Order: sequence, then structure tokens, then C-alpha cells
Amino acid sequence: MSKQFDVIVIGGGPGGYIAAIRAAQLGMSVACIDEWKNDKGGPAPGGTCTNVGCIPSKALLQSSEHFEHAGHGFAEHGIEVKGLKLNLDQMLGRKDTVVKQNNDGILYLFKKNKVTFFHGRGAFVKSDAEGYEISVTGATNESLKGKHIILATGSNPRALPSTPFDEKLVLSNTGALAIDAVPKKLGVIGAGVIGLEMGSVWRRLGAEVTILEAMPTFLGAVDEQIAKEAHKLFTKQGLVIEMGVQIGEIKVGKEVTVNYTDADGKAHKQQFDRLIVSIGRVPNTIGLNAEAVGLTLDERGFIAVDADCRSSLPNVWAVGDVVRGPLLAHKAEEEGVAVAERIAGQHGHVNFNTIPWVIYTSPEIAWVGKTEQQLKAEGIAYKAGSFPFMANGRARALGDTSGMVKFLADATSDEILGVHIIGPMASELIAESVVAMEFRASAEDIARICHAHPSLSEATKEAALAVDKRSLNF
Ligand code: FAD
Ligand code: NAI
Repeated sequence: MSKQFDVIVIGGGPGGYIAAIRAAQLGMSVACIDEWKNDKGGPAPGGTCTNVGCIPSKALLQSSEHFEHAGHGFAEHGIEVKGLKLNLDQMLGRKDTVVKQNNDGILYLFKKNKVTFFHGRGAFVKSDAEGYEISVTGATNESLKGKHIILATGSNPRALPSTPFDEKLVLSNTGALAIDAVPKKLGVIGAGVIGLEMGSVWRRLGAEVTILEAMPTFLGAVDEQIAKEAHKLFTKQGLVIEMGVQIGEIKVGKEVTVNYTDADGKAHKQQFDRLIVSIGRVPNTIGLNAEAVGLTLDERGFIAVDADCRSSLPNVWAVGDVVRGPLLAHKAEEEGVAVAERIAGQHGHVNFNTIPWVIYTSPEIAWVGKTEQQLKAEGIAYKAGSFPFMANGRARALGDTSGMVKFLADATSDEILGVHIIGPMASELIAESVVAMEFRASAEDIARICHAHPSLSEATKEAALAVDKRSLNF
């Protein structure tokens, strides 16, 4: 006899576990199935984000920044460090502890919200008038029956066709977060978000990092002015970034040899101790047995959904990395909440225009809304204003004055259309602009709000003032 639930969620990453909790808060009986295993074979809910993504990468980012500051930044503050030494085991161990705290936190939240958790793989068996039968294969084998199904099975790293990941020399994000000795020479294929974040972490720890990117333009999705500034700063830090390359044969032996041609067509060969391949991700529908119920995938393998995350099947929904849209944890979470609310008859909503993006390099890059190149392409008349952190008192006191805040506002109405930040704590600073855009504020609204002094957020106010050419401190 199957166990009955109002909602069964398959996948316990940010999309799935948040959907499960919200559905339970709304009074439904909820099961969440997740197959991720920790190193002891036990459950490790939280998905890519918690286990091999957002959380461990930010733990290493913090540790590697401390190391770099101790080695290169403290002296300016009059702090002398003698005998500085890297204990990589301790650093990786701390990262693992942070991950485990998050896994345990999610299990606790499931208990608190009365979500029944199943550790194993969930798959469709069949459907009938009462709903969908789902099998769980794992620690125990179960049969579940759900009126509504939410699919949140996430994504997997894309490998180069000729070179599978071995996670020893050729690394996906999983291996890149667990290198057991700092490589002397680290190669990275793909100058996207993972390539830049992980490349920066290992550079700070002492690796010589070369990033090989196929596209001719650096960070094409980022506002051009910000991307140019980022390229300048990262190059100054010592990251070697080669644009417009074409990757040829890759040989894996004691080290990894990468053959490629540069933007001018000239052939090169480089040897690396480790190679990170970060060339995007593919949706994960493996093992769902989607064919059994006739679930439609799109031409790229994502689960086909409408704007409200409804799939091709009645009462089957899909959220997060396994559907169209940006591969971001907070986008997955917002979709999860909205779907749970829709199932409960409410009007959940996700505003795709105000989803913030952050690249956790140093300095961080964060933005919301349109870039200048998008506004030009769409023929929208706009005004721009920017303010450099160099002119911000708090940034000077911090000793971190690189970058700027840039505002783009409608030429007629002054409504904020986009905000772009490269600089210290950009990931935190962007929240103010997200709120402003949600409330359809004008640049003038931000310019008239009192911001604490001295704070980095004053750069946001000053950039808003700059839209009208009336910055006070620059
Ligand atoms: P996932 O997190 O991938 O979770 C899916 C879960 O479903 C997994 O646990 C998987 O095991 C499970 N599953 C799959 N199929 C089945 C099945 N049939 N049965 C049972 N379980 C199944 N995003 C940000 O917003 N900020 C960041 O800083 C950030 N950093 C990142 C750093 C790295 C290195 C990487 C790789 C990604 C990062 N991301 C970041 C992206 C973020 O991790 C994803 O967007 C997010 O995890 C997507 O959530 P999800 O719930 O859709 O899928
Ligand atoms: P990405 O899409 O950000 O970057 C991939 C890069 O690889 C692109 O610049 C692409 O042009 C390049 N590329 C593709 N094929 C190539 C080839 N054959 N040779 C050379 N270059 C090639 O993908 P990435 O970095 O793998 O990250 C995947 C996703 O994970 C991101 O889209 C992002 O949404 C998410 N993520 C988010 C983070 C955040 O929010 N801070 C952090 C890390 C990942």
C-alpha cells in the first residue's frame, strides 16, 4: 500500500526543500525525496548548492581571502605576520563542517515543518485519477502516492565531449572544491561564474591560474563597463585570462596537456597540474522515469514548463535548475515558494526582472535589471550615473577602493532600470536596489534616502545622484 501525500517533491536542493517547507506551512501533507549522500552514505539534503556549490565555494572564498589578506593586506594596516602558513587540510575540513551544518539544518527544518523526508531516488511509476505513484529506491524502498508532484532535480556539470571528469586531474565543481594540495599550475576552461570564482580561490592560495575562454567578450552577460573593470582588476591580481580560444586535444597523464588555438588562430600547448572544466551545466532528469508518464522535455533537455512552472502533465510542476531561466539558488527558491502557493490556491509570483546576480570574486560583481548594452539594443532611452568606491570614505578605511556603483534609469520617468556594482560587499549592497526596483522606485527616490555615514551604501546613493549629474562627493 502506497503512502499518501498531498505533495511529493523530488529533489532536496534549494528549489525542492523550500517548496516542501512552504507547502507544509500551507497545511498540506508533504514528502521530499533526495538522493544526495554524504561521505558516510547518509542523507545530505541541500542539493548542488549546499554540497558542491554556493555554500562550500563561499566557505573557501572566505578562507582564501583571509589567507591573502594576512599575506598581502595586513601590513598596510600595521599588522605584521611572521611565519604565515597554509593548512589546507584544516581549510577543507572547515568547509566540510559548514556544509554539514547546512545539511543538518535542512533535516531539522523538515522535522519542524512535518515534511516526511525519504533518502533515495524518486521515480515515476504510473498515474491514475487520484494522482501519481512514485517509487523511492535507496536506504529503504518505498511506494508513495501524491496528488501534486514538484520536480526539483537540479543540474549536473557539462563535460567536454572528449574529456570526462575524473575528479582527480580533470575537475568539475565537485573536484575543484576538494583539491588536496595547491596546484602549481591550474588550468580552467570557461571564464564564467565558476571559472572565475574557483580560479580566484586557488590563485589566492598560491596557484598560477590560466583561464581559457571560447567567447571573444569577457563576461558577456555583465554590463560592459563593469566587465571591463573586472577584467582589468582580475588580470592585475594575476589571473591569466585568454579569450576567443578554441580547445583542441586534451591529454591526461601525470598532468593535463591542453592544446588550443588562440584568438589569432595560433596553436598553443599548456601543461597543468589540474584542470577545472566549467563550461556550463545540463539539466538533470536522469532516473526520473519521465517516459512512464509522458513528461515533456524541451529541445535542450530541460523540463518544459510555462511561466508558472506547470509541466506538460496535470498537477506536475518543476522548479529551479531543471527548468528554463538562470541557474541560481534564489531563483529556484522563489519558484519553489510560488508553486507551493499556487497548489494551495494562492497567487505565488516570481518577478524575473528583479532577480539579483552575484559573482563572488574579489571584488564581487552584483547586478539587477538591464545592462547598458541591453537598453541600447532594445532602443530604451536611459540616463546613467556612476560613483567609484575610491571616493567612498568607508571603502578607504577598509582599504578596498576598487570598483564602482552604476545606475541606469529611464530617461523620461527616472525609473531605475538596472544597477551594477563591482566592489567590496557588492553581494550585500545590491539588495537595496532589488527592493527599489520591486517598488518601481526612481533614481531620485534612492538619492533622497538618508544612508548611514560612513558606509559602502553611500556609494549607491551617490550613483543615484550621479544619474542627475549631482554627486556630492565626486
Ligand atoms: P540542486 O541544488 O541541483 O538540487 C537537486 C537535488 O535533487 C540534488 O540533491 C539531487 O541529488 C536531487 N535529485 C536529482 N534527481 C533526483 C531523483 N530522481 N530522486 C531524488 N533526488 C534527486 N547559485 C547562487 O544563487 N549563488 C551562488 O553563490 C552559487 N554558487 C554556486 C557555485 C557552484 C560551484 C555551483 C556548481 C553552483 C552554484 N550556484 C549558485 C548555483 C546553485 O547551486 C543552483 O542554481 C541551485 O543549487 C539549484 O537548485 P535546485 O534545487 O534546482 O537543484
Ligand atoms: P557559465 O555559463 O557561467 O560559464 C561557462 C563559460 O564557459 C562561458 O563563458 C562559455 O562561453 C565558456 N565555454 C563554454 N564552452 C567552452 C569551451 N568549449 N571552451 C572554452 N570555453 C567554453 O557556467 P559555469 O561557470 O559552469 O557555471 C554554471 C552555472 O552555475 C552558472 O550559469 C551560474 O548560474 C551558476 N553559478 C552561480 C554562481 C553564483 O551565483 N555566484 C556561482 C557558480 C555557479
